[in-house]
Amino acid sequence: MSTKTGEGFSSSFGAIMAAAGSAVGLGNVWRFPYICGKYGGGAFLLVYVIFVLFIGMVLMMSEFVIGRRTGEDPMKAYTALKPHHPGWKYVGLAGLLTCFLILAIYLVISGWTLNYFWESLSGTLAGIADTGFEAHFNQFASSAGRPVLFIAIFLFLTALVIVGGVDKGIERVSKLLMPILVVLLMALCVRSMTLEGASAGLSYLFKPDFSKLTGEGVLAALGQALFSLSVGMGVMIVYGSYLPKDDNLLKTSLWITLCDFAIAIFAGIAIFPAVFACGQDPTGGPGLVYQVLPVVFNSMGTVGRLFSIIFFLLLSLAALTSAISLLEALTQWLSGDRIGRTASAIVMSLIVIILAAAASFSFGDGILSGVKIGGMQLFDLLDKLTGTILPPVCALLTIVFFGWFMNKEDIIDELSNHGTVKIGYFKVFYHFLVRIVAPLALIVVLVTGIIGN
Ligand code: PHE
Repeated sequence: MSTKTGEGFSSSFGAIMAAAGSAVGLGNVWRFPYICGKYGGGAFLLVYVIFVLFIGMVLMMSEFVIGRRTGEDPMKAYTALKPHHPGWKYVGLAGLLTCFLILAIYLVISGWTLNYFWESLSGTLAGIADTGFEAHFNQFASSAGRPVLFIAIFLFLTALVIVGGVDKGIERVSKLLMPILVVLLMALCVRSMTLEGASAGLSYLFKPDFSKLTGEGVLAALGQALFSLSVGMGVMIVYGSYLPKDDNLLKTSLWITLCDFAIAIFAGIAIFPAVFACGQDPTGGPGLVYQVLPVVFNSMGTVGRLFSIIFFLLLSLAALTSAISLLEALTQWLSGDRIGRTASAIVMSLIVIILAAAASFSFGDGILSGVKIGGMQLFDLLDKLTGTILPPVCALLTIVFFGWFMNKEDIIDELSNHGTVKIGYFKVFYHFLVRIVAPLALIVVLVTGIIGN
């Protein structure tokens, strides 16, 4: 129990499951496979692994240190560490704002996923002809009522867990759902790999093609590494504030990172061999999951329906544990000394669902699709802000604070659990990665990203 409010994870295992639950989400199952295939398979993977280990994991450890050291929400944490420089709290605020925007768009996609889970169960998807899925998706996602209904159901489930509390809600649910998720994913992998013609999918995913690894691909790899590990926007400061005091922060970060990476790879193995075996187009991009996979499932006959249910359940569960961490960050911040956890979760949910509904209405041919902000529909704007711009900006500010402004002795003390854990890696971690490599890489990505636009 490490926070000021006395809330916290009850064990290191529970903490790892909760943080891995945050990391493993739509980013792994929905996004990773298609961008990995798009930017050169093995070539992309190589760059991605480097970013994950040397930037993503470094940020995660840094956020854990900030969170556990202070036991505060992201805004108060910066103030607690730098009481005479109140400006730093705006870094925490920027992170929370990013969480809010991510949650809004995340809810839209989670709502789609939940709807597809329902349509797999009820048999609706099984009744659609192969050529009809694109129209089906567009018509559904652009309609007004149904997507919002599923957003509301999904948000209700998320808030329910938050209201349960950190250990009795978040930790308990994560300990239950993460193993289920792994089992479901393994079942899909086995099915996909044993289909005839599956190997073409594996080589699409893994065979390095350096000609496809463009500058844009490198940027995508970094953005994906941050998004997938849930780092940069303060969520891991929040979870860090709940970590047990004797938890080994290096080990915990390493486990979460490995878990997140492995699940992304297995998601690719579950999807591409099946897509190739059925002769479908692997470059379906964001629509792959909703427009191409249903065709694949339908071609498998009756068992296909079962695999469709398994897949959309898996995706819904993965999204749920990530949405929980985003709503928790906002709830912890709002509750503070002001209002209780339940009231604060309800208020935050009511505010975020307005933005999520607006984003949903702006999608495709929706009723708000004519409204443009900076020339973009709201959904696309949110997607761009949360996918490529805000996380690297917040990550850069966080790592600069950690490496250049936070007291080094405090960091050593926290990472070593007051001298009880060996931290021989500290020199490389701090002097090389935290102070130089991570900030420089983030600056390069941001500058090229901005120029490239
Ligand atoms: N890591 C999550 C995913 O891969 C998304 C997320 C980002 C969750 C930031 C929390 C904070 O889907």
